[in-house]
Amino acid sequence: MLFNVSITKFAHIAMISLCAIGLNISVTHAEEDVTDIAAAQVNPKYAQYKENFSVKRLFASRCSWCHQAYGLKEADGPRLSGTEKSKEHVIEQIAYGKSPMPGFRKQLKPWQIEALADYIKALPDVEL
Ligand code: HEC
Repeated sequence: MLFNVSITKFAHIAMISLCAIGLNISVTHAEEDVTDIAAAQVNPKYAQYKENFSVKRLFASRCSWCHQAYGLKEADGPRLSGTEKSKEHVIEQIAYGKSPMPGFRKQLKPWQIEALADYIKALPDVEL
């Protein structure tokens, strides 16, 4: 009897863990989908400058510590998806910054800044 109870308990815990894992996967998936869709529109345009260019990789290395979830989530910097700024203003913001955001014109090439702006403008107005 005792054995039975612990088996049931174990099954219960296993079920809960599976649900948690399932939820986690679907949330991560949702995030990947919209940012991947946006990136897929942008990457081919800049492949002429760098083979297998990935705008998400560039974003991850330079922007992620302040703009999380590839721009879908506010952190030290605001959420970027759905920005009201035009592409030109986004380019200006990335190039020159706006305190406390640093400017990137000395670290990034103009085409990289434009690729990031295209990516941000391609994101749908969703929040993670
Ligand atoms: C040190 C933190 C930090 C880093 C790194 C950073 N940002 Fe920002 N970013 C901010 C902050 C803070 C703001 C809000 C500034 C303000 O308008 O007051 C901002 C604003 C922006 C805006 C304007 C959003 C809007 O709608 O007004 C864009 C676009 C942007 N960042 C893009 C980027 C990109 C692309 C990168 C990487 C190349 C990057 N940022 C790196 C902190 C950061």
